[in-house]
Amino acid sequence: MSPLWGGRFAGQTDPLMARFNASLPFDWRLWDADITGSVAWATAIWRAGLLTEDERDQIIRGLEAVRDEIAADPAAAFVDAADEDIHSFIERRLTERIGAVAGKLHTGRSRNDQVATDLRLWLRGQVAELDQALAALIRAATDRAEAEIDVLMPGYTHLQPAQPIRWSHWLLSHAWAWQRDRARLADLLPHVNVLPLGSGALAGCPFSIDRAALAADLGCAAVSPNSLDAVSDRDFVAEFLFWATLLGVHLSRWAEDLILWSSREFGFVTLADAYSTGSSLMPQKKNPDSLELLRGKAGRLHGDLVGLLTTLKGLPSAYDKDLQEDKEPLFDAVDTLALTLPVARGALETLTIRPDRMEAALGDELLATDLADALVRRGVPFRQSHHLVGQVVQRAEALGCALRDVPLAALQAISPHFDAEMAAVWDFERSVEQRAATGGAARPAVQAQIAALRGLLAQ
Ligand code: ARG
Repeated sequence: MSPLWGGRFAGQTDPLMARFNASLPFDWRLWDADITGSVAWATAIWRAGLLTEDERDQIIRGLEAVRDEIAADPAAAFVDAADEDIHSFIERRLTERIGAVAGKLHTGRSRNDQVATDLRLWLRGQVAELDQALAALIRAATDRAEAEIDVLMPGYTHLQPAQPIRWSHWLLSHAWAWQRDRARLADLLPHVNVLPLGSGALAGCPFSIDRAALAADLGCAAVSPNSLDAVSDRDFVAEFLFWATLLGVHLSRWAEDLILWSSREFGFVTLADAYSTGSSLMPQKKNPDSLELLRGKAGRLHGDLVGLLTTLKGLPSAYDKDLQEDKEPLFDAVDTLALTLPVARGALETLTIRPDRMEAALGDELLATDLADALVRRGVPFRQSHHLVGQVVQRAEALGCALRDVPLAALQAISPHFDAEMAAVWDFERSVEQRAATGGAARPAVQAQIAALRGLLAQ
């Protein structure tokens, strides 16, 4: 296989070096983007008077034939190929089809602006698919939140029982983090959808290329403003990987809650068999492997991000071969999320909840704040009421009884502000319904969240 750059070389590449240098084993997946970019480039150099109409048509027809050939069986297309990279592969296949005229396609172009363009076009397509998968996950959480809005459970801070909430409120808390991830993805898309093509190797294109028309042909929103920057700018990859990492972090926190709640000690949720696995040794075991892998993938995504940033650090100006190392972390992150998001959705849609177990975990201590608030409503400053209820907690512990069973006389010995009507606070539903301010756990506030998310999903 002769490389695209063979002319000035007398000696052969060491086979080990060829293997080390090659990116086709992973960049093959840019084939469609590479062909799309080349079709547009053929048009651009025809516009610049560098191709006749006939040459342009031969090249474009040839490229489309190569596209059809690969599309027919992408898995088989690259099996025996020894080309250096996807750009060499496509050019070789084009030459085999249409002959010497294929040699005109690379006029004014470098693989440096070509690969940067391919990667952007490819990622742009992936962003659309990931957004769909993420939206489906948010929809699943929202649907459950609506269907199971009656269910109450303990809310925790520091993993200690804190205040009662709706199960739906918890579900939506994660849906909102994922919705921010969708918004962030939409924000970064314009940074991806910029056209480097027409930058040449580093100094720009010497022919009169209409880059604005080229950008329009490729659906890019902007043209890169500096050729030196354009061929080495991988900010869009770094941004995407940060996005992926943060989504991974969000998924891991969601998974961790469910793993804990699926333990026998909590027993709030039961994961479906379809998303669990067993132990090879202990016959009784049913492990939440889907959720554990979801939690674990956050580490891998973080590794992709740190790997890329480390590669970019300190690189000299313009293209350096180090930049070939941008692809594998990016592909890994996309592949990871393409599998992770549907699994998260499947696990969420199929798990069953145990409202009885959640209810059993609702202890009176979760209503201590409500008792303090009842004093506040009688005019006691909150700092004082907080302290008084703390004494009630102490008293209940001393008496070995639930908070609600501390006798009124004992309460009034702590403070004369306690009265018999305050017994109304010992009601979990009532407590939750008090949290009706926007963003709270009360039914109307949760319903407003559901409506807001549905609106965002419909956009
Ligand atoms: N395979 C290369 C990459 O992925 C393509 C660009 C090669 N450019 C060069 N000047 N050698 O970065």
